[in-house]
Amino acid sequence: MYKAPRGTSDILPEEQGYWRYIEDKAVALCRLYGYQRLDTPAFEDVRLFARSIGEGTDIVAKEMYTFKDRSGNTLALRPEGTAPVCRVYVEYGLDNLPQPVKLYYLATIFRYERPQAGRYRQHYQFGFEAIGDADPALDAEVIDMAWQFFLSLGLNQLYLQINSIGCKICRPPYLESLKHYYSAHVADICPDCKARIVRSPLRLLDCKKPSCHDVAEAAPKGTDYLCQGCQTHFEAVQRYLRILELPFEINHRLVRGLDYYTRTVFEIQPPGEGAQSALGGGGRYDNLIEELGGKPTSAIGFAAGMERIVLNLKGQEIPVPSLPRPEIFIAYLGAEAKLEAVKLASALRQDGIAVTMAVGDRSLKAQLRQANSLGSNYVAIIGEEEVKRQAVTLRHMISGEQQVVSPLTLRKLLKKVTRG
Ligand code: HAM
Repeated sequence: MYKAPRGTSDILPEEQGYWRYIEDKAVALCRLYGYQRLDTPAFEDVRLFARSIGEGTDIVAKEMYTFKDRSGNTLALRPEGTAPVCRVYVEYGLDNLPQPVKLYYLATIFRYERPQAGRYRQHYQFGFEAIGDADPALDAEVIDMAWQFFLSLGLNQLYLQINSIGCKICRPPYLESLKHYYSAHVADICPDCKARIVRSPLRLLDCKKPSCHDVAEAAPKGTDYLCQGCQTHFEAVQRYLRILELPFEINHRLVRGLDYYTRTVFEIQPPGEGAQSALGGGGRYDNLIEELGGKPTSAIGFAAGMERIVLNLKGQEIPVPSLPRPEIFIAYLGAEAKLEAVKLASALRQDGIAVTMAVGDRSLKAQLRQANSLGSNYVAIIGEEEVKRQAVTLRHMISGEQQVVSPLTLRKLLKKVTRG
């Protein structure tokens, strides 16, 4: 028996309503905020990701699906969506367009993680990036867009956390002071954190182990080390967020797991869970385009995990619209009737009406049972008698009302109800 690979899932037809609901909301949101869709390949040159996400991050060091193709190129399945968007920006010279360039994506993402609820090896992200401006009003707009996305889905009691992790100028002295502080607390922290003191000191702050929590809480705060430029920027972002009436809180321990961030970082958390379950996160990345070979270009973006959204929609019992069902099911009895059924199904589809036709030679009862389980509004029944009279029996499934009509009348009738 084959099974879906560990950490992946199949989205069965009965689940699709959730996915269409989220995608429709995402697309509508992007129209409102002026973002255009971008689709990029599922794999890229591995160096694109190593360079942008950072060699020392868990994603690059432990989680990438890397492989050599038959020509010997080393590629990686996309472990996140921002780097490919930046590659496109540089490759196609999008700096020639009016700035910022606003792009969004709905894409599968691959990370070799330890699977658990809301954490998979293949997941789906909705993300958007605004590239080409350093205005703090753009930070606020992107954060607002992320927040409005979750509101439009009907999700409640979410937390919006923001922080500033500074820039090339003010981060190094802050990291030094973090290292200094943690060196005095090595006895109190987990082995992973001991390694982080040298490898990735910023990640010390978001260690999820309860034993490290108190040490991280009392650690020096990045916002106390911001340079004048970063300080002014962060204050302006907060001012705009207050004008937008977004209920944000500053979380000094919010640092994100990718190295490209500068200044503003933010996350949206669901109610009552640990920080590992962020519904979405993002931030500024003002150096990335240049690092990938473009001109110095500021940018900011956000991405949300769709599986986590589905889990939260279910958890909060938010109803989603059901997917369209076939308008009519065509049942028949006998070979002659079957020919008429084939003809009728084709004519109705030409009219744009969704039809499911029975196949095989099941009893009428079995065919009606199938119509019922498909949830179609009408059943057309063609038996010997109907063939003789060149007619069709049309039954409304809910009321049970029946009438015998000509195929032409049936088409007119259905056109009228489906248009209405
Ligand atoms: P990220 O925080 O790594 O950021 O991922 C974004 C979101 O994807 C997470 O908040 C979470 O909802 C979801 N997610 C991440 N990993 C998994 C997983 N293994 N299983 C299920 N869901 C997951 C980024 O990827 C950045 N590119 C976001 C960004 C865009 N920053 C700037 N622009």
